[in-house]
Amino acid sequence: MAKVGFTAAVLKEVNTLFGRYPQKVHALLPLLHIVQRENDGWLPPGWETYVAELCEVTVNHVRGVITFYNMYRDHPPGKYHIMVCTCVPCGLCGGVEILEHLEKRLAIHPGNTTADGLFSLEEAQCLAACDQAPLMMVNEDMQFRITPEEIDRWIGEVRAKKA
Ligand code: FES
Repeated sequence: MAKVGFTAAVLKEVNTLFGRYPQKVHALLPLLHIVQRENDGWLPPGWETYVAELCEVTVNHVRGVITFYNMYRDHPPGKYHIMVCTCVPCGLCGGVEILEHLEKRLAIHPGNTTADGLFSLEEAQCLAACDQAPLMMVNEDMQFRITPEEIDRWIGEVRAKKA
């Protein structure tokens, strides 16, 4: 198992974060984002306990938060983690078709990663850009009013870079 625990520099950042809240537990969500940032986008085994100790809560409390929000992952995402909103506003504007197109193009379903580890797919709830539908989020970047043709072009470019 890889080493669990922040570097001194990240611990300094975490202490600054704790300083913004009345209790450490209130910083749990951003703290989990920091863990993911430091671990290639996921929460490897052992980090729940470490975070629970930092926030002075039980491991079950941390586990409950991780399993409630779909932005936290207990398995590694692909290099490009793709989220597609299919809520009603986006669904009416082609979000479902975009997700189906990605499923077909990548030959995976939401929750899975391609065999080469390049792409992972997730069906998302509202990504707070309903007026730009259909949209997808790739890692931290939003791509608005996306079309199947643009998706094909982008996937082709990523795969060509890898080759
Ligand atoms: S419903 Fe899709 S971004 Fe809001």
